[in-house]
Amino acid sequence: MRAWQVVRHGAPSEALELRDVPTPEPGPGEILVEASASVCNYNEVDGCYGRYLTIDPTLPYTLGMECVGRVVAAGPGAEAWLGKRVTTSGPGGTGAHAEQVLGSAAMTFEAPDRLDDAEAAAFFYPFHLAHLGLHERGRLAKGETVLVHAAAGGVGSAAVQLAAAAGARVIATVGSQDKVGFVESLGADVVVNYRDVEFDKAVLEATGGRGVDVCFDGVGGDVTMRSLRCLVQGGRHLIVGFASGIEAEEVPMVSGRVLCFGNFDLIGVILTYLDAPPSGIPGEYAPVPVPRFNPCSTETGRRVQAHLVELLEAGRIRPVVGERFPFDTLPVALARMESRATMGRIVIER
Ligand SMILES: NC(=O)c1ccc[n+]([C@@H]2O[C@H](COP(=O)([O-])OP(=O)(O)OC[C@H]3O[C@@H](n4cnc5c(N)ncnc54)[C@H](OP(=O)(O)O)[C@@H]3O)[C@@H](O)[C@H]2O)c1
Repeated sequence: MRAWQVVRHGAPSEALELRDVPTPEPGPGEILVEASASVCNYNEVDGCYGRYLTIDPTLPYTLGMECVGRVVAAGPGAEAWLGKRVTTSGPGGTGAHAEQVLGSAAMTFEAPDRLDDAEAAAFFYPFHLAHLGLHERGRLAKGETVLVHAAAGGVGSAAVQLAAAAGARVIATVGSQDKVGFVESLGADVVVNYRDVEFDKAVLEATGGRGVDVCFDGVGGDVTMRSLRCLVQGGRHLIVGFASGIEAEEVPMVSGRVLCFGNFDLIGVILTYLDAPPSGIPGEYAPVPVPRFNPCSTETGRRVQAHLVELLEAGRIRPVVGERFPFDTLPVALARMESRATMGRIVIER
């Protein structure tokens, strides 16, 4: 089968080669999917450059975190998935930009009937991550105010919609004027283009100086530090990602004094469902040691999916397929993502 492999580190056009590789065999708790679509994740850009330490396998490896397709084979314990149309993510968050993709049953969900393959592909990570952040970890309540960074992006566009669906007031940031109307159409009440104004000042102005209850932060670095100036007492700042520079992942950022005087919570959010002892993490998931890795349970994943499908059926959220690219052009799609020009999810069709 054909698969896009990272063969050296560099820009996507240099790092990636489309190669013939053996079809993987599903092991216990794994499925094999005939993929019809995968999507671009910002982490894959970092993966090409070799600077994403969370997923940094030995070269060469097949890039790609998630896909949609039909289950054609299943390992022991995963037989119930045979024949189903699913969204899935592979062991270690790799392998999805291929014709056939290995998925972990714990990270597999039925593709909602009302979505076509591209829409289903665009649904999985953004909405699960936004839900885990805003609801499971962020305890968002109706009537609260939420600040969403990178709001036009794949994950951000889902966070805006979910926050609006929960009855929150949504303030969103974007980095270009053409994204403003798009994010408003998703339900944001205030959209700040941070190229024109300092976003922290704009947020305080939009809230009459009060600030926000929850900040959904997939950008990191300086944006995180400036966002902390906008949090109310009892506020929740969600550390979701580091699009402004993945190196920030390893840099200590907040002193105890900032937390003590701020009287707010700094909260990490990871999208991984896994039934395992809390610290019993296979090496491939955490090549850089962390004090503790706490994935969510598969039971949480099933509950999150059920709630999301309910919202989808009620027409209160919708996956955003920003652009579609043919399988052969993955490096072009990732370069476009790197240029920050993309809105919603970029879908790679077979
Ligand atoms: N915690 C988890 O389990 C998990 C899982 C998946 C993804 N994530 C994270 O979620 C975030 C969003 O991922 P995505 O795939 O949906 O990407 P995306 O939001 O579609 O693309 C990244 C966006 O970040 C914004 N950005 C702000 N400063 C930037 C900078 N200096 N360089 C590049 N981009 C910058 C850009 O939008 P503007 O120019 O409009 O600001 C850009 O379009 C990423 O940080 C990713 O790592 C976390």
